[in-house]
Amino acid sequence: MLGFAGRSLDIECMFLDPSPDAPAGKAGTVLRYAFDDVLGLRELADQCELLTYEFENVPVAAIEALGADTTIYPPPAALRNAQDRLVEKNLFRSLGIPTPDYHSVDSRAELAEAAHRLGYPMVIKTRRHGYDGKGQMALLSPDDLDAAWQSLGSAPLIAERMIRFDREVSIIGARRADGVTAIYPLTENVHRDGILRTSRAPAGSPALNALAARHLDVLVGELGYVGVIALELFVVGDELLANEFAPRVHNSGHWTIEGARTSQFENHLRAILGLPLGDTAAVGQVAMENLIGRFPRNPGALTTAGYYLHDYGKEPRPGRKLGHVTLVAGDVETRERRLRALQQMLQDH
Ligand SMILES: Nc1ncnc2c1ncn2[C@@H]1O[C@H](COP(=O)(O)OP(=O)(O)O)[C@@H](O)[C@H]1O
Ligand SMILES: [Mg+2]
Repeated sequence: MLGFAGRSLDIECMFLDPSPDAPAGKAGTVLRYAFDDVLGLRELADQCELLTYEFENVPVAAIEALGADTTIYPPPAALRNAQDRLVEKNLFRSLGIPTPDYHSVDSRAELAEAAHRLGYPMVIKTRRHGYDGKGQMALLSPDDLDAAWQSLGSAPLIAERMIRFDREVSIIGARRADGVTAIYPLTENVHRDGILRTSRAPAGSPALNALAARHLDVLVGELGYVGVIALELFVVGDELLANEFAPRVHNSGHWTIEGARTSQFENHLRAILGLPLGDTAAVGQVAMENLIGRFPRNPGALTTAGYYLHDYGKEPRPGRKLGHVTLVAGDVETRERRLRALQQMLQDH
């Protein structure tokens, strides 16, 4: 999707991805190297003016090994902070951005201590390498301590109070090296089994949008951030609690391709290249539905019905994001009706 955005800006993109069926192949040349292959990264850097990433588990050491003469945006420091959930939460706390209460857990005794301090229900997460809800467990009572420790205790963990949030939202923004930013309206997100299912935008009151934008502003200022960033938040009454941030274009911003004046992908490229940032306003009431695990058997029916279908061309696998569908409506009622119809069409086969 970044590569497609590059085309409309007349920017040529080249990619690095070890997978033989990498979706990026539709948009340009793919160098097939592992993400930690410094020689592969060097070959890419030699052929490009600057490097960016849209995958969070790129080893920071590998891209730092490229040296100071290779421009990499977003800055690797942002990646380092985002890759470790404990470091990330400490950063939020140090910046005065509220988070769920949390506790570092490196032993069975610390797990019990965390439960004692945070209470139940509690969620534990591996500090590194988790995504789409993987590497997480909910604990409902002390009876769950042993099983939780058995299954996740071999890695460093963070324990968090389980928040009974009203809603989940994300705030997505683009920032240039000179500090100019453009921020999208809040997106409301529904997850199932830890995986993003549905996004709706624009969401939230003006006050909530302003509060989220303030948190994002503090964060990007601290990181000296360049590119698109997403901050995931829990809404509890009028309060926002930061869950995590992603130093990249984000699934909850996929609606911007058809649903905003400028997509997050185009604005990411504009930000890292120092071009004028595009208008982030929504063009209607927008919804995005992820295609998880299986692809619609009759994709033509969706297109005929006026939905925008994106096929990543990936092999189906349970829990895997294979594509997404976006709809743009004139008002909330129409959006909700068309979203229900879409979800029905996706279920009916
Ligand atoms: N402390 C928490 N309280 C309540 N729900 C949570 C908490 N942490 C995570 N979740 C739920 O699990 C989802 C995935 O967790 P997250 O920390 O965002 O990890 P991932 O990297 O897998 O997206 C969240 O979007 C939210 O729905
Ligand atoms: Mg998340």
